[in-house]
Amino acid sequence: MKYSLKTGSADKISADCVVVIVWNKGQLSDEAKSIDSASSKCISKLTRTEDFTGKLGDTQLIYNPPGIKATRVLLLGGGDSKKLTSKNALKMLQCGLKAVNGLNAASIHFALASITVKDQDPAWLTARLAQEAESTSYRYNETKSKKSKALAGQAISIAPASSGQRKTLEQALKRGAAIGKGINLARHLGNLPGNICTPTYLAKQATVLGNKHACLAVRVLSEKQMSRLGMGSLLSVSAGSAEEAKLILIEYKGAAVSSQPHVLVGKGVTFDSGGISLKPGASMDEMKFDMCGAASVIGTLATVAELKLPVNVVGIIGAVENMPGSKATKPGDIVTSMSGKTIEVLNTDAEGRLVLCDALTYAERYKPRSVIDIATLTGAAVATFGSHVNALLSNNDDLADSLLKCGEQCLDRAWQLPLWEEYQEQLKSNFADIANIGGPRAGTITAACFLSRFAEKYKWAHLDIAGSAWDSGDQKGATGRPVALLVEYLRSQKA
Ligand code: BES
Ligand code: MN
Ligand code: ZN
Repeated sequence: MKYSLKTGSADKISADCVVVIVWNKGQLSDEAKSIDSASSKCISKLTRTEDFTGKLGDTQLIYNPPGIKATRVLLLGGGDSKKLTSKNALKMLQCGLKAVNGLNAASIHFALASITVKDQDPAWLTARLAQEAESTSYRYNETKSKKSKALAGQAISIAPASSGQRKTLEQALKRGAAIGKGINLARHLGNLPGNICTPTYLAKQATVLGNKHACLAVRVLSEKQMSRLGMGSLLSVSAGSAEEAKLILIEYKGAAVSSQPHVLVGKGVTFDSGGISLKPGASMDEMKFDMCGAASVIGTLATVAELKLPVNVVGIIGAVENMPGSKATKPGDIVTSMSGKTIEVLNTDAEGRLVLCDALTYAERYKPRSVIDIATLTGAAVATFGSHVNALLSNNDDLADSLLKCGEQCLDRAWQLPLWEEYQEQLKSNFADIANIGGPRAGTITAACFLSRFAEKYKWAHLDIAGSAWDSGDQKGATGRPVALLVEYLRSQKA
C-alpha cells in the first residue's frame, strides 16, 4: 500500500474511487455535498428514495457519476454524526476498506476532512485508516497452491482538513501503516502451521528482522546455553520434543544506553499438545496458535523499529514445542527454575508458565523499567472473556492503569483481574516450592499468581491473550493482538 495526502474538493480529486460519508437519514457530509452538487444530485437521488440511508458501515457504489473526476464514488454510512465514537469510526473505516478491496481500483481517496471523531484528534482517524488498510488487505497464502490476489498495490489517499495539519497527518499515515504491518506480521507467524513455525523458525524470523534494522540486535540462545543458565523449567517443556527450544532476545535501541528498557516477554509454544497430560482431540490444531504471544512481541518490535520510537525495548521469547515422548516431563516431576525455585509439574499442559518463569528471571538482567508478558496462557481466560478482551493482571497499579488506558485509545482493550494474595494459596506443593497448577477455580488468576513469584524484582504486567489472539470457526486465524496495545503503550513512554 502507498499512502499520501491529497488536497482539493472531493469532486475534483482524480482517483479510481472517492469515498465520502453519508450520515443517518441521508444527511450528507461536506464532501458528499460537493460531489452531489457537481453530479446533478447523484447522491441525494439515492438518499431521497431511502435506497441508501447512511446506516453505520453500509456502502453503496456509484459508477461513473457525471461531473466528477473520479470514476467511482463510494458512499459510506457513518451512522449518527453526533455519535461517531472511535469504535464507530473504526467500524466505518473497516466497512469502507472492505468494499474498496473488492473493486479493481488502484487508487482510492478517502474524503474525510470534515469528519471528526469524538474524543480523538484528527490524526487518529488518519493513522487508523492506514492501519486498517494494511490489515484488511492481509491474505494468508503461504501454504496454498492457489494464491489469492495481492491487494498491497493499492494507493490510498486522504484529505487533510487544513494545510497546517500536513506534517502531523503524514506522520499519522506512516505510523498507522507501520502498526498495521506489525499486526500482519504477528498474524502471519501465528497462522503458520506447527510443522513450519518451529522454535528454530521463529528464531530465524527474528534474526531476519534484526538484519533489516540497524537499531535491532538479535541473539538466540540454544538449549545448551539455557541449560548453563539453569533454565530447568523452560527446558522441561521441550524435553519430549525433537525440536530444539530457543530463547530469542531482540534488543531495540531507540534511546541512550543508560535509559532502562521496557521488556516484552512472549510465550512461544509453537505447538501445545499438552505433553503427557495430552489435550483432547477436538480443536487441538488451534494449539499452533500457542505462540501468538511471541508473534506479538516480534510484530511490536518490527513496528517500534520502523517508527524509531525514542525508548529502549527488549523482547524475550521462550520458544518451545510441547510434546509427549519417552523423555517428556511427567506429572509429578520436579524441576528447578533459573530463579532457584523448585516447581512440581502436576500438569504438563500448564506449560506456558513453565516457559515464561525462566524468561521472566532472565529479564532481571536488563534492570527493566517495566516488564509485560504476553501469553495464550489459560482456557479460563476464554471462558471468562470470550474473544474481545486481553486479560490483564499486574503487580503495579500505575502500569495496569496505563495499559488499560492505551487499550481504550487503540481499541485493543484489556480488562484487569485481581492478583490477590489469597489466590497464592492454591499453588502450594507438598514436594516443591510451588506447584504449576492451582486447581480448577480461577485459572487465569492462579496462572498469573504463578508468574508473579518470578516477577518480584520489577514492575510487571501479564496479558493473557488466550481469547483475543485468534478467531475460531470459519474465520479461523490469528488476529495480531495485542500488537496495537503494546505499540500504544511504548509510544506513551518517555525515554
Ligand atoms: N495454551 C493453553 C491455553 C489455551 C487453551 C489457550 C485453550 C486457548 C485455548 C495452555 O497451555 C493450557 O493448556 N492451559 C491449561 C492450564 C491448566 C492445565 C491448568 C488450561 O487452560 O486448560
Ligand atoms: Mn498447555
Ligand atoms: Zn499452552
